[in-house]
Amino acid sequence: MKLIIDTDPGIDDAMAIALAHAMPEVDLIGLTACFGNTFTEQSSRNARYICDLMGFSVPVAEGAALPYGETDYVPSANVHGPEGLGDLAEVPQIGKNVDETAAAFLVRMAAEHKGELVICAVAPLTNIADALELDPAFAHNVKELVIMGGAYKHAGNITAHAEANIYHDAKAADLVFASKLKTKMIGLDATMLTLLTPEDFGELAKKAPKIGGFIAHISDFYLAFYRSVGVTNGCPMHDATAVLACTHPEKFTFEATGLRVILEGDALGQTVADSTRQPVDVAVDVAGKWAVDLFMERIISLG
Ligand code: BDR
Ligand code: CA
Repeated sequence: MKLIIDTDPGIDDAMAIALAHAMPEVDLIGLTACFGNTFTEQSSRNARYICDLMGFSVPVAEGAALPYGETDYVPSANVHGPEGLGDLAEVPQIGKNVDETAAAFLVRMAAEHKGELVICAVAPLTNIADALELDPAFAHNVKELVIMGGAYKHAGNITAHAEANIYHDAKAADLVFASKLKTKMIGLDATMLTLLTPEDFGELAKKAPKIGGFIAHISDFYLAFYRSVGVTNGCPMHDATAVLACTHPEKFTFEATGLRVILEGDALGQTVADSTRQPVDVAVDVAGKWAVDLFMERIISLG
């Protein structure tokens, strides 16, 4: 499967990139960077650093710096750390971004791999909305968009109603749900069932000192954040779960429904059913133990 991950690395984004690299089913052909957990420049720098650390190289295209209609953005440093990778104080600049915006890269790749390209979007959906605007054929050319974002029956994580990726650019997310893109939404209903424990990270560090050890190290910060908000049994591998939905959809239970995003008020960023829109496959359940076990196995295989 030809895959591009649209990402804001981000601790669980690093897990998702590592997992995609380790999945034999996946041909990872690029990464596109968005603001979100970090500023966009940090996201693309981190994406290049993560690839280098994992021993591979793919094009990294930098995308949107701000949500639709906004002039300012404050990243989620309390969740992912000041540079996006836990307590790492400095992340080296390795290589360069490609000389093309994320939206232009997505549009070009979708046209070159018409009907074949899967996009796994694990950041605010601004780059995807930009690609839809840039090329009317984009929605048709893409095989499938798999989103980590939203909360359907589950409560929100950034507010009582909203999940962070959708909340950070509610307008862009609403444009995506209003589009003709064939879409799966892997929201908190599924990803909160895929928790990695401190013991899992201990095993990763022991059995795969380089890459598992890196993931374990940066995840200390992430575990501490989740403990601080009352999740004491581990941290969700949100973005890695979305990668698994690309390769193993049969392990998820989906409900098909049109969706829209609440654009104002207390419920800003909430994803709600809208029968006037094209159905999205919304994940309402996943085989959580299977997902964690496969993540562990694949990361350990990287060493
Ligand atoms: C999502 O928000 C970000 O903090 C994570 O990387 C993930 O993509 C979870 O709500
Ligand atoms: Ca993310």
